[in-house]
Amino acid sequence: MTFKTLDDLTDIAGKRVLVRVDLNVPVKDGKVTDATRIERVAPTILELSKKGAKVILLAHFGRPKGEPVADQSLGLIVPAVKDVLGQPVAFAEDCIGDKAKAAVDALKNGDILLLENTRFHKGEEKNDADFARALAANGDVYVNDAFSAAHRAHASTEGLAHLLPAYAGRTMQAELEALEKGLGNPKRPVVAIVGGAKVSTKIDLLTNLVKKVDALVIGGGMANTFLAARGTNVGKSLCEHDLADTAKQIMIEAAGAGCAIILPEDGVVAREFKAGADNEVVAIDSIPADAMVLDVGPKSVEAVNAWITRAETLVWNGPLGAFEIAPFDKATVAAAKHAAARTKEGALVSVAGGGDTVAALNHAGVADDFTYVSTAGGAFLEWMEGKPLPGVEILQQK
Ligand code: 3PG
Repeated sequence: MTFKTLDDLTDIAGKRVLVRVDLNVPVKDGKVTDATRIERVAPTILELSKKGAKVILLAHFGRPKGEPVADQSLGLIVPAVKDVLGQPVAFAEDCIGDKAKAAVDALKNGDILLLENTRFHKGEEKNDADFARALAANGDVYVNDAFSAAHRAHASTEGLAHLLPAYAGRTMQAELEALEKGLGNPKRPVVAIVGGAKVSTKIDLLTNLVKKVDALVIGGGMANTFLAARGTNVGKSLCEHDLADTAKQIMIEAAGAGCAIILPEDGVVAREFKAGADNEVVAIDSIPADAMVLDVGPKSVEAVNAWITRAETLVWNGPLGAFEIAPFDKATVAAAKHAAARTKEGALVSVAGGGDTVAALNHAGVADDFTYVSTAGGAFLEWMEGKPLPGVEILQQK
């Protein structure tokens, strides 16, 4: 993979640098509840500012569908961005036109400006050429640091790279390098852990992974669909019985590709889905008809950890059990801790991402010990599905 980085961006004092960041952060009662995404893009912003560039941030927030929506204004995020950067951040009430131009014209070298939500204009999601040109009018150079929005072919994530010299920011660079180590050109054996509730949302991902990894551990609710397809009675467990044929097909493809499918050997079952519910460990072929599996059992954890020990590379998406309610977090926490320990020993490259995975690793207290934890949701999943990401493709040097 070859793309230009900030190392190639010399002589930028006084230049207007349009930096696409992902500020799509969770907000409650007007306050940012998790600033991780802002923290991730801070190094790029501060590096450019220090080098004397006029740093102009472009981002989306929510899904306003091409019109201004008050509670999806990036103005709400400005205080959190200032806090993280420890520097003043100006704000313009539009990302194109007179308001944007006036704010950009007022910038001095090293200043930072955030432009209003790009999705307040219909041209953003349409990747409209005129809209992209209107954005480009305020910049000399384009830096994309928003891997987590790179699965979108929008004007600010893709279109701009056709119009201005384009570079990957530090987070984009780190993400692409980590993903290359994860599945692009990994050290073998490669093990993938895929969990979460439903097979239906991860069919493409599973189909792609069985072609690429040596072992695929399936946990979470989706394991029940595979177990049921194999003829195991899963009681009242979450299960997509209508996907039995899909699950069988994935198992056939895995066998053909030499990929071991690791399903739970035992499970922690309960009669209620709630924290502290009475529970017991049962063999996977003895799930009581009135019970549901809420976590994989200790024997299964041993098997998963044995695969992690054998692996040189681990790619992880989705928890093994209902980690958000104790004590059904045990398997996820145990496997996460083992993967973190192996990573710290230098024996494993561990890459994790997507939705609940970051929350699960934070819950286990090991997110910082993984080689790389992506804050991307949809983009990480599409990468795991093997799909080209438009925002990344355009950064590749021809
Ligand atoms: C995300 O939150 O995953 C990214 O910011 C992309 O947002 P979107 O799914 O609304 O395009």
